[in-house]
Amino acid sequence: MSASPLPDDWATAPSGARLYDFLCGGKNHLRAERTLGKELLERARWLSRAAKINRAHGALIAQHFVRQGLRLILDLGCGYPSLSNALRNVHEAAASISAGVTVVHVDHDPVVAAHARALLTGPKGHTRAVCADVRKLDQALVPELDPTRPWGVLLHDVLPWIPNDLEAHNLLADLRARLPPGSAISITHLTADMHPGDVEALAAIYEEAGLPVRPRTRDQIRELLDPWPLAEPGLVPTNRWFDDRLLSQIQDERSAAYAAVAWHPSEPR
Ligand SMILES: C[S@@+](CC[C@H](N)C(=O)[O-])C[C@H]1O[C@@H](n2cnc3c(N)ncnc32)[C@H](O)[C@@H]1O
Repeated sequence: MSASPLPDDWATAPSGARLYDFLCGGKNHLRAERTLGKELLERARWLSRAAKINRAHGALIAQHFVRQGLRLILDLGCGYPSLSNALRNVHEAAASISAGVTVVHVDHDPVVAAHARALLTGPKGHTRAVCADVRKLDQALVPELDPTRPWGVLLHDVLPWIPNDLEAHNLLADLRARLPPGSAISITHLTADMHPGDVEALAAIYEEAGLPVRPRTRDQIRELLDPWPLAEPGLVPTNRWFDDRLLSQIQDERSAAYAAVAWHPSEPR
């Protein structure tokens, strides 16, 4: 893992990773995130549930990818490892299906990457944590990611934190250009489609706190995944992607996000 210096205000300026951990009920947050998190929850009480739905979806997708035969998983913008049994980490979920899966966790926050490395469990040779900005994929692609075998990539609740549309499109285009045949990209993405007033108000609070976030519409999110075909059920509220599980019983509004899986066109699903 490359060592990145911490910014001088790392403990006083709110961090997106620590805020998400706060919303998920974790312990990796400081006063700045607790203050901001409480302000956000006062405006939209559903936000904590939405964060937990997103986190739970990551574990389910990891298992789904492994069941589909993928053995290399790239978790871009991984966030702090969860210590809760209820919210399993991607590498733990993958390992619950097959012991032979390699998971590479990537985050641009050096503290997240350090935590990910320290808290990795299971066979050490099968997990790796990298500190890198996903917009510079060269820095994230470690030798464990064999270019001759298909990868399953998770980009869960990361694209809203890349508010510049051109950068977001370039990241997806770069990924598609590099992924071996048989690979898949899973995304989740915040949207205002379900709670227009609330999400606009939340975005203004985030912006004010120095954390610009970009909710996108369903059409804008679909465009990011073009031209790869989407697996069934397509681009749907995150809680609905998996058919017969607890998440699908939750109201769509609670997820406030869409999820989709796009497969390399060489491998129609
Ligand atoms: C909302 S959290 C999502 C965490 C995890 N993917 C999940 O779904 O549970 C977003 C994470 O993306 C990371 N992140 C945001 N922009 C990034 C970038 N340009 N490069 C790498 N990581 C990024 C943040 O540090 C944070 O940990």
